[in-house]
Amino acid sequence: MKYTDEIQKRKTFAVIAHPDAGKTTLTEKFLLFGGAIQTAGAVKSNKIKKGATSDFMEIERQRGISVATSVMSFEYKDTLINLLDTPGHKDFAEDTYRTLTAVDSVILVVDAVNGVEEQTRKLMEVCRMRDTPVIVYINKMDRDGKFPFDLLEEIEKELNISLHPLTWPINMGKDFKGVYNLYERSLKLFTPGQKATDDNSIPIADINDPLLDQKVGERDAAQLREDVELLDGVYGELDVDIYRKGKTAPVFFGSAVNNFGVGEMLDTFIRIAPSPLPRKNDKGDSIEPTEPKFSGFIFKIHANLDPRHRDRIAFLRVCSGRFERNKNYHHVRLDKDIKFSNPYSFLARSKEVIDDAFPGDVVGLFDTGNFKIGDTLTEGADFMYTGIPSFSPEIFKEVVNKDPMKTKQLEKGLSQLTDEGVAQLFTQHSGNRKIIGCVGDLQFEVIQYRLLQEYGAKVDFVPLSFYKACWITGDKKKIEEFIRFKQANIMEDKDGHLVYLAQSEWYLNTEIQNNPDIQFHFKSEF
Ligand code: G4P
Repeated sequence: MKYTDEIQKRKTFAVIAHPDAGKTTLTEKFLLFGGAIQTAGAVKSNKIKKGATSDFMEIERQRGISVATSVMSFEYKDTLINLLDTPGHKDFAEDTYRTLTAVDSVILVVDAVNGVEEQTRKLMEVCRMRDTPVIVYINKMDRDGKFPFDLLEEIEKELNISLHPLTWPINMGKDFKGVYNLYERSLKLFTPGQKATDDNSIPIADINDPLLDQKVGERDAAQLREDVELLDGVYGELDVDIYRKGKTAPVFFGSAVNNFGVGEMLDTFIRIAPSPLPRKNDKGDSIEPTEPKFSGFIFKIHANLDPRHRDRIAFLRVCSGRFERNKNYHHVRLDKDIKFSNPYSFLARSKEVIDDAFPGDVVGLFDTGNFKIGDTLTEGADFMYTGIPSFSPEIFKEVVNKDPMKTKQLEKGLSQLTDEGVAQLFTQHSGNRKIIGCVGDLQFEVIQYRLLQEYGAKVDFVPLSFYKACWITGDKKKIEEFIRFKQANIMEDKDGHLVYLAQSEWYLNTEIQNNPDIQFHFKSEF
């Protein structure tokens, strides 16, 4: 196959959702469609179970599952789909944000009963930063939820995106009868539990066709006609370019657990979702996937479950050219060449050693400590991909070393765990205090547990009441002055960049106002 055809054939995306909206269920249906699994229930939920005996034991169970489901690749109607999994727990949101830097589009699942929820908002904010194209799947139409027009309004307003429904529901809950496909002009009746491959849509090109009354009854047919007239008037035809620019999101209604509305969405997805897109580097260039020389970046690092082996798996997203096994590639940050004898892909759940990979693919690389998140590999070129930032953490704790004999191990452990992206490490600018910043409390348990298990280092954490960490840049003199005044609040991140820890929102706003020559950044790339 021609190289450009290989690229065109690929679609790399993630399913995102607030926990419990139906991400796992929908993912499973996709895999059934793609023939990657044969039976329902094969995809393990990556949620932290409620009431689990111990959170970190649960996390360990999770780590096992999440290696296997990190990337799920399958073919559907001649399209090679790479579905990147994201953690189900909000405390691991940062992991999700990073995964979103490696996809070209997303499918957002919204629960029809709960509408927009906290995580839906946060995840969409990250998508907006890169204008990632979004398709919305409104799930659980078999339950009594919010009215569709109200839901659309809520999503548009809360997520600041314009929507474009491509299917429209006929009732909901007990009375849910199915959807009308506004694009194909066909009716799909709801039959709970149908097989993934069943297609029983009925063409109804003219919404006034009496066949509609026969199929759904006069009352519902009349309501649908009214709705469709309104929808046609407001939305017209979907402009695929605007979707690809991330400015409008097609919407599908369905019920994932009943495999309803999933097929239409997948068919539309392979038709409109973007193939691998160009990516920006730190030289200000945009690297096209068709660029013949290989390049890619690391967006996730997964530690080995066996504490006796420190090796890890680094996930590489191929951005341009062809990645080949046993070929030397340039590790830009370390300025050294590395080759990989056992790179693997994630086709149909099984890990397979691969000889090559193309833009859009994700390759698993064994790593003995060379990588950290955001690292770039090239065929010699000297640039780093941008757009893989750390986000301002929200919970801060100081590390207290409980065993001074193990100081070295502790330093190494902290450094490696934070390279993996488990948390962010800040060191006091004029001192040696070490502070860890996380998005969620669970991560502290993970760090404490893993430091002991994998590095033999015992730590305690002292909670600190900081509100936010922001990276600061600006006029050298002003920065020096600011450091003098705010000494106790100035830290350095792992790359030596200055970070200001604000005690409260009020303090932060006051400092921003009082220091117009200093820029305060809420992510590590500026
Ligand atoms: P998540 O990965 O987004 O966290 O959600 P998941 O798919 O695990 O789904 C959360 C719950 O919602 C599950 O129920 C699942 O069965 C249910 N669900 C998913 N799709 C639909 C739908 O279309 N309609 C209805 N009514 N429910 C749906 P659970 O009780 O938590 O788990 P389970 O015991 O059913 O697996």
